[in-house]
Amino acid sequence: MVRPEDHVFVIFGASGDLTKRMIVPALYSLFVQNLLPEKFALLGVSRTEFSDDTFRQKMKEALTEFKVTDDLSKIDEFLKTIFYLSIDPKNIVAYSSLEEKINNLRTNNNIGGNAIYYLSTPPNLYSVIPRNLASYGLNKQGNGWKRLIIEKPFGYDLESAEKLKNDLMQSWTEEQLFRIDHYLGKETVQNLLVTRFSNGIFEPLWNRNYINHVEVTSSESIGVEERGGYYESSGAMRDMIQNHLLQVVGLTAMEPPTSLEPSAIRNEILKVFQALRPIKPEEIKDVAIRGQYIASKIKGEEIKGYREEKGVNPESITETYAALKFYIDNWRWGGIPFYVRSGKRLPTRVSEVVIHFKKTPHFLFSTNGNTNANNQLVLRIQPDEGVLLKFGMKIPGTGFDVQTVNMDFHYSDLTSVRIPTAYERLIYDSMKGDSTLFARTDEVMAAWKFLMPVLDAWKNDESIPLYGYPAGTWGPERADELIEGINTTWRYPCKNLADDGVYCEL
Ligand code: BG6
Repeated sequence: MVRPEDHVFVIFGASGDLTKRMIVPALYSLFVQNLLPEKFALLGVSRTEFSDDTFRQKMKEALTEFKVTDDLSKIDEFLKTIFYLSIDPKNIVAYSSLEEKINNLRTNNNIGGNAIYYLSTPPNLYSVIPRNLASYGLNKQGNGWKRLIIEKPFGYDLESAEKLKNDLMQSWTEEQLFRIDHYLGKETVQNLLVTRFSNGIFEPLWNRNYINHVEVTSSESIGVEERGGYYESSGAMRDMIQNHLLQVVGLTAMEPPTSLEPSAIRNEILKVFQALRPIKPEEIKDVAIRGQYIASKIKGEEIKGYREEKGVNPESITETYAALKFYIDNWRWGGIPFYVRSGKRLPTRVSEVVIHFKKTPHFLFSTNGNTNANNQLVLRIQPDEGVLLKFGMKIPGTGFDVQTVNMDFHYSDLTSVRIPTAYERLIYDSMKGDSTLFARTDEVMAAWKFLMPVLDAWKNDESIPLYGYPAGTWGPERADELIEGINTTWRYPCKNLADDGVYCEL
């Protein structure tokens, strides 16, 4: 791994949560690994008044609270690269002091013209800041590259995403844009590509002839916490499925790319999105299930329902659980259902892809009520990162009873390997100019286009139920019926917390 070219790294929204929880800890970890440029300055920008030193002190506290590396010995050295400027990012005039501050940092630290601007701000500033930067020529690439990192959400719907795209494209090019989808930065999500394309044994089976259905789950045990205000304008479908889970589907379903070039991989993901079978209005109630957590008791503790959370409308119809069934109409996947689900206040935090293989054509060993095994390949994205293969084994003794057993790999068994955080990987890649693991504009648009019928129906059609589910359970029972097949349901790695405590089968 080589050090990126020298540059100034500007974070807008520097006094916010993401900066201290994710961005600065990731930058520090890169610093410890000697993966920041030789000449580097980090400029925090936000409205709150801080001196350079107060901001450094705040970041020092954050680095111990949200540490991603055990080596804290270099914090003081790292802090010397940090500076701060207080401006109102909406105020165009203020950008002259930004320009001046950046120029000073360049001169004092002997840094050339390269710059990254990271928008860790509320989305209503995603058009304003890039426009204001451009009006001072801070986007111009003549004397060095200029890149813009944007956090999701990329729009609220197709229309607003189009508008954002047009606003950005007025003064920035696609090559300059790095849209963070932090799922793509996860090691185990990237491992999907390696599992599929570096093993001769999986890829021949990876199609409609051998796979029965594919399941992608991302469940969280936490509720909306302090983010009720944001979540009210989002919901599970926008917050998780439109971006993270569809990207995971893209990597699971794509054709082999011709190379590891950014455009080769992103083109294949786009083709998957373009092949998503449009969902017809009349089928929405059968293929898209929404739910909202209601109050319950978990291990004796009273848990609030979503409508009682801070910042949430007491009559809110925002979904905290969404499940969707869909098809990818192409040669590889024709007729094979894909199921995705995501929810808050479910029994545990787990993200995984489950490939359910077809059963054997003939049940040879169907004695004593046992049938042939359900072969599943479980690609565990988090938290217990690894790969699990389930297959049938003979139960020792007379007869031919079959039991499903696990062949299980855990990344944690590789004790010498530290899994870098998604932000570390993505920030490093953006510094190198490698956009492979960032969402491209056309992918984002295709994802919105696919989901709009569901989002519109959920907003406008009151006859589509919003199911309540007690916090700590696996969401609405109705979602079980989405999955086709007798006795077939989602994989439940843990029982409902509301039943008898956590029991993880992982
Ligand atoms: C974010 C969502 O993008 O992803 C959050 O806005 C969610 O609501 C988070 O909690 C989940 O990320 P992870 O990495 O914990 O699965």
